[in-house]
Amino acid sequence: MLQGRRILLIVSGSVAAFKALMLARLLREEGATVRAVLTAAGARFVTRESLAALTAEPVFDDLWAAEAEIGHIRLARWADLVLVAPASASRLAAMAGGLATDLAGCILLATRAPVLVAPAMNPAMWEHPATEANVATLRARGVGFIGPDSGAMAEPESGPGRLVEPEAMCDAVRAALSDGPLRGQHILVTSGPTHEPIDPVRYIANRSSGRQGHAIAAALARLGARVTLVSGPVAMPDPAGVQVVRVETAREMLAACEAALPADGAICAAAVADWRVAREAGQKLKKEPGAGAPVLEMALNPDILATLSVHARRPRLMVGFAAETEQVVEHAQAKLARKGCDWIMANDVSGDVMGGMENAVHLVSAEGVEDWPRMPKEEVAARLALRVAEALA
Ligand code: CTP
Repeated sequence: MLQGRRILLIVSGSVAAFKALMLARLLREEGATVRAVLTAAGARFVTRESLAALTAEPVFDDLWAAEAEIGHIRLARWADLVLVAPASASRLAAMAGGLATDLAGCILLATRAPVLVAPAMNPAMWEHPATEANVATLRARGVGFIGPDSGAMAEPESGPGRLVEPEAMCDAVRAALSDGPLRGQHILVTSGPTHEPIDPVRYIANRSSGRQGHAIAAALARLGARVTLVSGPVAMPDPAGVQVVRVETAREMLAACEAALPADGAICAAAVADWRVAREAGQKLKKEPGAGAPVLEMALNPDILATLSVHARRPRLMVGFAAETEQVVEHAQAKLARKGCDWIMANDVSGDVMGGMENAVHLVSAEGVEDWPRMPKEEVAARLALRVAEALA
């Protein structure tokens, strides 16, 4: 919750500025007071009247008028957090250069509050070396980035540069203002099984319930992290305060994980199918009288944990799970080396763990092995979240 928190929302020029209106409403629903600063370019996309109505506060759009009314220094000091959403390419450049040519620029220089930016621009502009350099400068100064997402743009093209959805921005604000030990950290969690299609009506799956992965996502969010949960098909409800991305196949899961980077940590708790059917049939496979059963040729799926562990944007802490029925620790140590991750949560599945309520795990790392007693999956999650907070501190 954001009860009593004061958020200064700077809306700069992008066609995605309409999302700032929804964001203002979400933040207020959580109890925050929101004041909006509308830049000249932002005002080409949303009106000060809309922002005033949704924030129930005056909107500030003129450096000189603001001087008379409240002053940019007071506005900068008022804020517990400054959020630039959407942040255009030119706003990022102005921030990186420390320009104070308008009210937003003055506030961004004068504030001592944490600053979050949610970029929105055309993919070519996002990938331009000038923007990349500006982003690197701002990150080095401690500015937090929310997104951008990849996907369809206003123009008929797609790629990175899409403003993240208002719910995800709200989660990021909550994480940045939390007093939990994972405040400001972004953690990626995979959960559930994957479904690998055989034909339009059949698929290969496994018995993973998603209970452990979902509990981990919830526990991390409770400690103040911004959590992206990439989940295969499960019957579990979405954990509170967590951004959920739903996928079906292993390949979709990998794409969603890569799109969620950068992240400070990644916990791969999904039971990803190791194989998929090499060629998914376009039509339902039919029984032919007299013909035997079809033979399915299988192909290897990407290994998400191993891929993220050697990724150019590798999260600082990579955690995998291992399900073993014998020589649990030995197999986990081998898996740690093979996957290139930092910890393996080795699961003793000689009982009824898969789909069950409890887990008996050993935390295996280069430092050694910790044996945890058998406990409910929620407790495993809470304990793991605390260990993640220690490791990332
Ligand atoms: N994993 C993954 N992508 C895959 C396969 C596995 O991210 N394609 C991750 C799982 O989320 C888990 C770990 O890797 O964190 C499990 O590794 P895996 O090699 O599948 O081990 P087990 O399922 O324990 O089985 P086995 O060792 O028998 O292969």
